[in-house]
Amino acid sequence: MQDFFQGKREWSKYKDLILGYYLHPYIPKLAKLRKRILIVDCCAGPGRFDDGSNGSPLIIAEEIQQWRGHGIEVKGLFVEEILEHFSELTQNLEPFGDAIATRHGKFGDYLNEIRRRAATETVFLYVDPYSVKGLEFTPMKAVYDQIRHSGASVEVLMNFNVTTFMRWALAAMKRAMPNIEDDDPDYLADDPNERVEIQTLNAIAGGDYWQDIASDSLPFHIKLDRMVEAYALRLTDSFTHVCWYPVKSKYKHKVPKYMLIYGTRHPDGLELMNDAMCKAREEFLGAEFDSPEFLFPVRPERELPNLGMLESDMLSKASVAISRKSLRLEMLKLHFCRYSKAELNRVVKSLIDRGQLISSTGKSKIHDDVLLTTA
Ligand SMILES: C[S@@+](CC[C@H](N)C(=O)[O-])C[C@H]1O[C@@H](n2cnc3c(N)ncnc32)[C@H](O)[C@@H]1O
Repeated sequence: MQDFFQGKREWSKYKDLILGYYLHPYIPKLAKLRKRILIVDCCAGPGRFDDGSNGSPLIIAEEIQQWRGHGIEVKGLFVEEILEHFSELTQNLEPFGDAIATRHGKFGDYLNEIRRRAATETVFLYVDPYSVKGLEFTPMKAVYDQIRHSGASVEVLMNFNVTTFMRWALAAMKRAMPNIEDDDPDYLADDPNERVEIQTLNAIAGGDYWQDIASDSLPFHIKLDRMVEAYALRLTDSFTHVCWYPVKSKYKHKVPKYMLIYGTRHPDGLELMNDAMCKAREEFLGAEFDSPEFLFPVRPERELPNLGMLESDMLSKASVAISRKSLRLEMLKLHFCRYSKAELNRVVKSLIDRGQLISSTGKSKIHDDVLLTTA
């Protein structure tokens, strides 16, 4: 896709924000476990956009450089299949020295190398192809599972353009495509009007479950929700925790530009990603609703924190003794991308201060392993 790298699109900043915001605490956190870390940008692109803004390779490389400066053993592997992009990528990453390696070709070609390195390094995969067809489920699953079976840890953050997928799915099932007049989905490399074979769609989705979703009479945006839920469910075969964030360009749009989907086996990873996605959500809502031209906050009611509901959910989970960390995780399952770790801890403390939760230490300033029960 020739003009993709001419300038960064407004909504691309959210994936960059989430990537950078996640990696920053992730690297030192893993380093505490005394593991070497490998970050793989599977579809790297040239590294920098023509307008000078950093692409994911530079965002990753700068994090790596910063943490290596603190003595942490973290390295990056960047794969790009288009030769022209690859040459630019190599040039753009040269200042980062030995900590960075670039590879030319499809990232599937480097699976053996990634698997071999996974024997001693924890692997984080960032997968951002601009074509949905670049995301076939089974080869991706093979990567996750092979790394996992080698005893190593693997996490993935991927960009899945579920809107393009569902347009193709509707056409394949001979359903009418609704007019999405309030949006212009992100069709850079994929022609939304292309006829894509059912087998190809099965390969991308990792099964034929999408056919029922495409065929039923739900509104288009609900089909997208169902699709991402079903896709995430398939990922839970490889990851214990899977979550996602729909990136939109305007709040009023029902249809996202793309979904960022994340999988991990570690609750700590889920918490860090929740914080990163909360940050992206906050920036998105802030950009739309916190303009200085409004005298009063104008955020829609349902975007405001619902502390009453959160506290009631916490109290109900703490009817049997539960550690603060497990309580937070339970809240993430119920309210993902609504409250950061720090906010959840504050609510726990306030419930203890008000006598509604009792901590096993008798104090309200507690650490994560302290047990909590309802009064
Ligand atoms: C959306 S762009 C990546 C943008 C990049 N994440 C950034 O923020 O700058 C996708 C890039 O991945 C490359 N690509 C697509 N499929 C690939 C694959 N299977 N292996 C390696 N590179 C791939 C494309 O040539 C393109 O340069």
